[in-house]
Amino acid sequence: MTYTTYRGLPPLAGLASMEEAQRSQWSVEESVTRLKRLHYMLRRLHQIFTARLTAEPIYELKTAFSYHAYLCSEQVGAIRQRVSEMRQPPLGLEVVPDQALKRFFDEILAAPETTELVAALYGKALPALLADCDALIRDAHPLADAPTARIARLAKFELADVEAFGRQAIECLVDAEQREEMSEWLATLDDCLRFANLDPAERSDAELPAPHYSAKPYEYDRTPRRDERFKDPYNAGVNPEAFLYDERFSDRDKTLMMFYKRLRELDVPEMMASILHEMPDQPWEFHGEMTRQLWDEARHAMMGEVGFAHLNIDWREVPINFTWSLNLNTQLTPQERHGVLFFIEQGLMPKTGKRYEWEVALASNDPLSGLFQDFDWADEVLHSQIGRRWYVPQFGSLNEALEYGDRCWSKVLSHWRDYKEQGLTEHRNWWPELYRAACQRWGVTPDPAALAYDVTYEDKRADLKSLSP
Ligand SMILES: [Fe+2]
Ligand SMILES: [Fe+2]
Repeated sequence: MTYTTYRGLPPLAGLASMEEAQRSQWSVEESVTRLKRLHYMLRRLHQIFTARLTAEPIYELKTAFSYHAYLCSEQVGAIRQRVSEMRQPPLGLEVVPDQALKRFFDEILAAPETTELVAALYGKALPALLADCDALIRDAHPLADAPTARIARLAKFELADVEAFGRQAIECLVDAEQREEMSEWLATLDDCLRFANLDPAERSDAELPAPHYSAKPYEYDRTPRRDERFKDPYNAGVNPEAFLYDERFSDRDKTLMMFYKRLRELDVPEMMASILHEMPDQPWEFHGEMTRQLWDEARHAMMGEVGFAHLNIDWREVPINFTWSLNLNTQLTPQERHGVLFFIEQGLMPKTGKRYEWEVALASNDPLSGLFQDFDWADEVLHSQIGRRWYVPQFGSLNEALEYGDRCWSKVLSHWRDYKEQGLTEHRNWWPELYRAACQRWGVTPDPAALAYDVTYEDKRADLKSLSP
């Protein structure tokens, strides 16, 4: 019998042909197994991007890792939701589905240098993940398991962008000689993947390719690093917040300082990544939401980068300070860092915070700054909500939560004088130079008061509270 639809309309809501839909080799069990494998791969990728971004010196990779961690976490969330719809209590999502896959990701996590890391992440892990998405799109029953097929298609759509970025990154960062040097290791990774394709029940762990970099336990590096374009990163010789709230200065001049503040936010993903990595026992939803926030902060830094490009000023001439993430990561516990983050972000909410920055930007007549501050404000409202969901409930009240964050921040030693005495910085006042360059671009004469601005972080925190001596 030839089946026809009404006036030849596409059958089955466009999901598949009538013939394809009569395929019967698929089951809830098979679907869940495949989803769990994909889930494991995405979680491990998310873990690696997060674990490695703080100590990764290259700015473009730090921001890309932030984005890619976020994309992986979004897919993880979608898969968890789908698995929960398929008669899976308990979900069993924390179980390692395959020892060969585990070895594969353990090796990449432990990759010693940026070159190995980039080559393996983007040259091996991403293609493997995309191959799994393809297989799931092909095999999932197009009608009965349409929700799964949809998730695999959406995952593929986003991960293909990640792979495309990665292919270019490999071209830029890994030369032929380096590739040759790591070829044996990359072949080991291929072996792991080949093993992972065989029936796990059919083999013992002893047959797995021997661990190379993962032979010794992975040690997390929470010390932020920056590439060679970041000059004088210990410099805390200019206090942008005090400038921003000083009524003597013009909106236009404050916009310049805000572009600097945005770019300096690179220290937030560096710090947040350490919270994520060092609080592995928090529920997945915590990791998912905090990863979104981490990505937003990386975007804020890139908005600052665009701001500098917009003014045609080379940001490399300006010291982009990193001692906030350095000091927090090396002096506080992850819980205390979270407290500081919440305290600071809550302080951005009143009238003098993000709304004020947006109003300044609008009044400055720089539409780009206005646009950036508009979205920056929206993002920060979200972050403060994330904090209320995941941080405040550990305390009796909002006030207690805030007090704890404030105390933790006060505990951090800024080392302002130590860094100077150790010769790490002179805390040079870089503002007049930057300001003069911007005035030249704007075609205006510098305001003498703004030009003379000379307030440091020596005795003040970024919320303008005095530091105890
Ligand atoms: Fe931000
Ligand atoms: Fe934020």
